[in-house]
Amino acid sequence: MTRASTGPQRRVRAIVLAAGKGTRMKSATPKVLHEICGRPMLWYVLRALRSAGITEIVTVINDELQERMDEFGVQGILQAEQLGTGHAVQTALAQMPAADGGCIVVAYGDMPLVNDELFRGIVGSLGANGSAASLAMVTVRMPLPSNFGRVVRRGHDVERIVEVRDATPAELAIEEMNAGIYAYDEQALRDAAGRLRNDNAQREYYLTDTIADFVSAGKRVVPVMATDHLHVLGINDRVELARARREMNERLCAQHMRDGVTIVDPQATYLEPELEIGRDTVIYPNTAIGRLSRIGEGCVIGPNSRLSAATIGNGAAIRESVIIESTVGNDVTIGPFAHLRGNTQLADGVHIGNFVEVKNSKLARGVKASHLSYLGDAEIGEGSNIGAGTITCNFDGVRKNKTTIGRNVSIGSNTSLVAPVTVGDGALTGASSVVTRDVPPGERVAGNPARPLPKK
Ligand code: UD1
Ligand code: CA
Repeated sequence: MTRASTGPQRRVRAIVLAAGKGTRMKSATPKVLHEICGRPMLWYVLRALRSAGITEIVTVINDELQERMDEFGVQGILQAEQLGTGHAVQTALAQMPAADGGCIVVAYGDMPLVNDELFRGIVGSLGANGSAASLAMVTVRMPLPSNFGRVVRRGHDVERIVEVRDATPAELAIEEMNAGIYAYDEQALRDAAGRLRNDNAQREYYLTDTIADFVSAGKRVVPVMATDHLHVLGINDRVELARARREMNERLCAQHMRDGVTIVDPQATYLEPELEIGRDTVIYPNTAIGRLSRIGEGCVIGPNSRLSAATIGNGAAIRESVIIESTVGNDVTIGPFAHLRGNTQLADGVHIGNFVEVKNSKLARGVKASHLSYLGDAEIGEGSNIGAGTITCNFDGVRKNKTTIGRNVSIGSNTSLVAPVTVGDGALTGASSVVTRDVPPGERVAGNPARPLPKK
């Protein structure tokens, strides 16, 4: 329910609570840093706030989180001792200069599936400065049993929130829960936060006690019901973490499918946020794509492939292969069972076949390496063919050395290229050559060490 706004626009700031130790994760990593789909949980909460237009955000953190705050671009406020959600909010407010008629959104950092609509909804429902409400809060119907606080109503009105550990059996039977997402009138919050007490089962200062405080003072609390309880799933252990990941992955897949990508089996496709995938690309199962990868149109990716920080052109086919921090042109075919890494760059029409590893190498248009090769620190010119079993011997025990192969070169099967070494345009190496010295353009060499063959 949205109240007609009377007063001027409010300044909206957010406090994200993330200082809890998350003991049920049983982890050396702070809870909100556990990842779903390649991003820490906290990242999703901040993204949802920002896309709701809320950019002034502080995060209440513990000492373990302190060093990681830079990557999130928000101010961290240390709550040295975790004395409850109410205490966390008091700690934040003490560091935030008061704003007249402000709105303070409070959210929990362990709720990665939250979306911007919920935030917009409560800020809108709180109403502009001068509206009668002191709080708009998200409630949700959820299957029992649940460890969420229960919303106790009197008639239509919210009366108070009772935590599971303080609830009577009758209260535990209530199916309307407190989601843990609030938009407060700033002054009302500051007043109520100062009055919180810890006389409850957990001896904590509960933020949720602000609700009964408002009600007893005759102030309005506006409940906003969430449509889907998954949106407010709080992650407390690794079972819930896996459930959240599945839901997030489903959303990511759905978004790309709606944008024209065929995902044969979304449940067996693992995506991250911030990917670009072109139309009519088909993704086969057991494929993971992450780290800002960009994939063109009309590609075939998978099955059984992993792409990380990969840039792929149009019409490429990548099967049963791994591509990490590398760039692939149009109409390239890769795999099965190939491995590209270390800033490898493949131009259009390159073919990389089975059991070929390419590291930090540049292959020009139309190069073929079809079978069983290692190409490391190499530059290979247009149209060259790399025979089965070719190895660039790039490491001399101290440093990595470069192999340069010209255009239209034919490297025979099982050639060892002992770098640093250059093979000129149009040259040829015979099967099992061990190339220890540069080969001039047009020359044919063979043997160990490789020597020129008589001219035909
Ligand atoms: C809280 C709510 C409950 C609601 C549920 C929704 C309270 C008292 N209870 O319970 O009504 O249904 O969330 O998920 O608010 N935190 C701090 N400092 C602290 C304590 C907690 O920063 O001192 C942070 C935690 O890191 C976490 C969030 O606050 O991100 C929620 O704390 P948690 O202890 O998980 O609250 P719940 O028991 O789940
Ligand atoms: Ca929780």
